[in-house]
Order: sequence, then structure tokens, then C-alpha cells
Amino acid sequence: MSKRYTITAALPYTNGPIHIGHLAGVYVPADIYARYLRLKGNDVAFICGSDEHGVPITIKAKNEGVSPQDVVDKYNAIIKDSFEEFGISFDNYSRTSAKIHHDTAQEFFKTLYDKGEFVEEVTEQLYDEEANQFLADRFVTGTCPKCGNENAYGDQCEKCGTSLNATDLINPKSAITGNTPTLKQTKHWFLPLDKHEAFLKEWILKGHKKDWKPNVYGQVKSWIDDGLRPRAVTRDLDWGIPVPVEGADGKVLYVWFDAPIGYISSTKEWAERVGKDWEPYWKDKDTKLIHFIGKDNIVFHCIIFPAMLKAEGSYILPDNVPANEFLNLEGNKLSTSKNWAVWLPDYLKEFPNQQDVLRYVLTANAPETKDNDFTWSDFQARNNNELVAIFGNFINRVVVLTDKYYNGIVPTPSEFSKVDDDTFAALRAYPEVIASSIERYRFREASQELMNLARLGNKYLADEEPWKTIKTDEERTKTVMYVALQVAAALATLSEPFLPFTSEKLKGILNVSSSAVETSWSDISSKNDLLPAGHQIGKAELLFSKIEDETIQKQLEKLEASKKANEAANKKVEPQKETITYDDFAKLDMRVGTIIEAEKMPKANKLLVLKVDTGIDVRTIVSGIAESFTPEEVVGKRVTVLVNLAPRALRGVESQGMILMTASADGKLVFVNPDAEQSVNNGLHIS
Ligand code: 2FM
Ligand code: ZN
Repeated sequence: MSKRYTITAALPYTNGPIHIGHLAGVYVPADIYARYLRLKGNDVAFICGSDEHGVPITIKAKNEGVSPQDVVDKYNAIIKDSFEEFGISFDNYSRTSAKIHHDTAQEFFKTLYDKGEFVEEVTEQLYDEEANQFLADRFVTGTCPKCGNENAYGDQCEKCGTSLNATDLINPKSAITGNTPTLKQTKHWFLPLDKHEAFLKEWILKGHKKDWKPNVYGQVKSWIDDGLRPRAVTRDLDWGIPVPVEGADGKVLYVWFDAPIGYISSTKEWAERVGKDWEPYWKDKDTKLIHFIGKDNIVFHCIIFPAMLKAEGSYILPDNVPANEFLNLEGNKLSTSKNWAVWLPDYLKEFPNQQDVLRYVLTANAPETKDNDFTWSDFQARNNNELVAIFGNFINRVVVLTDKYYNGIVPTPSEFSKVDDDTFAALRAYPEVIASSIERYRFREASQELMNLARLGNKYLADEEPWKTIKTDEERTKTVMYVALQVAAALATLSEPFLPFTSEKLKGILNVSSSAVETSWSDISSKNDLLPAGHQIGKAELLFSKIEDETIQKQLEKLEASKKANEAANKKVEPQKETITYDDFAKLDMRVGTIIEAEKMPKANKLLVLKVDTGIDVRTIVSGIAESFTPEEVVGKRVTVLVNLAPRALRGVESQGMILMTASADGKLVFVNPDAEQSVNNGLHIS
């Protein structure tokens, strides 16, 4: 029976492009789900948009020396275009800077305000005196009071997921100046989550939410069990949606108050565009509302937003929130700031027309129940061993043989054998098997079932060997090819949610895009003639191609370069010593000298005893360079010598000056060479 679904995918922050972590966690599963439901004839609104407020955007703008508007304009375009090219089939992709969103969010706030759903309170909040700014959310970091993570943000600890108030942080530090904040009074509006505790308990814990993913249910239960507290939904910031009530000058809505309302305003925008009524998608209790998110967003979608919707009174609540865990990359956490990521725009450029490969790999290895790792070698293996060797190979054999034996016309079968009947029976079960996995949000399992169907086709051909029977039994060959063609037709339809570009191409090859022969999801379970005898199919085209080692190597090198760049950027440089005056400097008498003799100081690992010709005399200098240079290496070297350093005795040998040394970028000790063929970029080390 057809149903109405509102499917939302977390609104991405517009402070950077989309990477594989976002895709695997949110957008690919949401897209599979939406495509599947549409194929089954449901009424679907698949909604997303750019999250353009919030501190991450302000911080990015500050770092780049541009305005927040510049940042969101830039990344909104990049994100939107890359989603489209990647085949994420949003019905609407909006922006939270759109007027319709500002109006919707302000109206929502006003409704709650008028209903007395907020608590208005003057409290002490963290303040950065130097930056002249209140510190909330990502403007402040500190130690999480729950798990001890030292890098928790003012609104959330990303390690344990706890939602925080900035004043909860232990040892808070301003992310703007690094200063320890002071406390300053300010007025805000709070959503009293404690007041909604009973409802949330009833709805989540006692309701039917046991069918939610255990990670989601478990987190929500633990927060509720810990007790909920009022949560400020306004901020003293200049980037955001102005708070629409008297006495709120200079205050904006908390980004996590406005962002989820973005789902509603994006739905409104879509409905206006296509001439529909938006309200049933949010207010009809027969509509299923599903939020696809990453695990760091659980509290906002399972506690705060439902409390807001409930307080407003006219909205439905989410039916499910299938949050995923995180995806790592080559064993390390994905990180935008460390450039440890595979960025979608880069992938689209470097792997043209291979959207489905990444979609498949991210689905087959989706972080559904635990964090997972993306590796380029797994990417290559899944492409070469599954998409090429199983799916692509099966289709290619069917199409090439049909072309060769029957000029591309589906042959008329004769009697079906037991193997044929078994193959049909197995084929008919797939739509239900795949559907059941998708409906339980088990997309990896679903993708593997799809691949199993291609395996079934491959095995059938390998066992029945039409390339042999064509010489001995033409009738049997026709039947075998007919059965194999039905499997190919089923694959064209069932692959659509997972591999939309391949499905489209395959439908073109099989010539089934016209409605007369188009296969629906349920046809597969009920019909034996998805491709009827006499139907003309097209020529073979490669669906997937092998990915070579060099391609993978290039990607690994790119990551290696990111790692190196990071290490260099994070390298601790010794702090500069105290400033000296010119007069101090002028006291140094430095000469160009030549080392004419060198020997190790007995029983001292670090010291060489040198005879140095300074141009004014030949003198003995004891130098602590023996761990870096052998005596033979230094004899003949031209060096810079500080000649007026007071002599001092080292191990009984009087040292009459100093050879100037410094360190190269990679930490190696080098001479300050008067002939200057080496680059010097660190502070001088006097040895
Ligand atoms: O975590 C994030 O990237 C947020 N921008 C998600 C927002 S989801 C929704 F509520 F808008
Ligand atoms: Zn924590």
C-alpha cells in the first residue's frame, strides 16, 4: 500500500565540501531508502539543504578573512552541485539563509514563545574579554564533565555525544583567542527539556522505539536516564536568524534550533515549486518521518527537535532516526582540518562516471553498527572482484551472447528444467529479501543481496554453459538465454536504489525504458517474462571497468602528502629566545674559519676537539657535534667561528671559541657555512 514519507538527510554545514564520511553516514543510505520507496510507488519527499548558520561557519570565515556570507555562498554551490552529480536524488535542496527558512524558523520560535514554552532567564555565560564576545558552542572548548575529553565543544562533546551547556566545560578556553573566559550576564530563552522528560520517556522508552537501532536507542535512553535540563535556544552572536521578540537585539537563534526547522522550510519550498501542499508531509499522522543522520546528531534529532515539535503541537514526530556510526579513512579518523578525507568533488573529477563504484563501496562497508574503515585497497577490490567480475561480467555475457546468437532478440524458451524453475524461484524472492533489509535500514545487507542475485545469474550461466550447448542443443540454449535475460532485467530494476547510473545504463542496454516493458519492483516476484520473447535488446556496453594499481597508488600518495603537510604544520618550533639589543649583538666577533684538524675527545660521546684556522690565529675549539659528524667529515670544512667567547675548559681541554651550528628543517645539525650552500631556517644552536 502506498504511503507518504518525509525523508530528511542532515543539513550539511557549509564550511567545506562533502567527504566520504558524510556520504557513508547519511546521504548514500538516505538516497537508497528514498529511491527504493519511490520505486515501490510511495509518495516521497526527500529533503535536505545547506546548514548556513552556526559557529563553524563564522570560524571558517575568520580564518579565511572573508565574510560568513562568502563562505556559505561558496560551499553551498560546491555541495549542491556535487550531490547532484553524485546522484543523490533530493526532491529539494534548500539553504537556511533562504527567506522561507528565516520566516519559518522565526514563526516557529514565536509560536513557542507565545505558548509560554520557553523560560526566559538572565544567566552568567562565558565571555571572551579580548574578543569582546560571548562564547558558546564551537567558540569554546574544554574538558567534558562526563567523559573527560579535553576537546569538548561548548554545546557538545563529540567523543561521548553528550549535549552540554558551555558553562559545563571544565577549564574552558576561547577558540578565538585561547584565553580563559570570564562570566558575564546575558538574557536567553531556554527550552525546558526537563518539562518534556515525561513525554520523551513515554515516546521513546515506552513507545515502539525498541525497533530503533540499538546505538540510537541506547544513547537516547542514557541521556534521559541522566536527567534533562533546560537548553538555551538563543545566542549572542551576529551570524544567524534574529530572535523575533522584543528585547532580543543582537541575539540570534541557536543553530540547532533553526537547522532542523530547515527540513520543514525546505519541504515548503519544494511544495511551492511543484504545486503541492507541504502540511501533510509534516502534520498528517499517517506520514512517516525519517531522519538520516550521523551519530553526533542523535541528541538533536531524538530529544531536542522532538521536544520542539511536541511543544509546537501540530507536528508529527519521527518514526525512526537511523543514525550511522563514523567512517574512518585508512585507519585514521576523517578530519577536515587535517585534510584527511576523500572529498566528493575530487572523487568526481578523478573518477569520472564512476559514482556507482563509490556508492557501492560505501554501502557494502557502511558504518551501520560500528565505526568502519574505508581503504583504497578495499575500494579497488570491491570494484574489481564484485562490480566488474560478478555484476558487470554477468550482464556482459548475457548481452553479448544474445547479440551473437539471436541478433539481440530475446529468444522463445521451450520447457523449463528444474534448474530453471529453481532459478526463477530464487529470483522471485529477491525483491522481498532486498526490501526487507532496506526497510530495516540494513543497507549493507541489502547491497550484498543485490550482488548475490548477480552471483546467481553468473552461476546459472557457468553451470548451463550456453556457449557449449549452442553447438549441440539450440532449443536448450534459447531457454537458458531467456532465463538469464530475466535475471538481467531484474538486476536493472533492483539495482536502481544502489547503483542508479548503472541501472539507467542497463535499462538502456536492455531497451526497457519505455513503459511497455518497464519492470516494477513487484513484477519481479510475479512475472516470468520481464523481457518477453521477441523483445529487442541493444548492444553490450561496459558497466564497470577494472581499477588499476596505479590509480590506487596515486590516491594513497595524495593521502601521504596530506599526512606530511600536517606533520610539518604541527611541528613544534622552539620558542624564540629573549630579545637582545643591537649592542649585545655587536659584541659578537664572528670570523670565517677552516677546520684543519679534528679528533674525538676520549671518553666523551658528544665532543670533538678541533684545530681551527680563524684567519687571525689557529686555535683549539671543543665542539659538541660528535654525534652528527665524524672527525674525517669535518676536516677542511669552512665554518663560522665566534672568536671572542670567553675560553672555558671542557674535560680538561681549553676551548677558545665556538663553531656556529643550526638545524635544518628535518632537525639535522648543520654548519653555518660561510659558503652558504645550505638553507638555514631555524634558530641558531651554539655548540
Ligand atoms: O552536524 C552537522 O553537520 C549539522 N549541520 C547537521 C544539521 S542537521 C539538521 F538538524 F539540520
Ligand atoms: Zn564527553
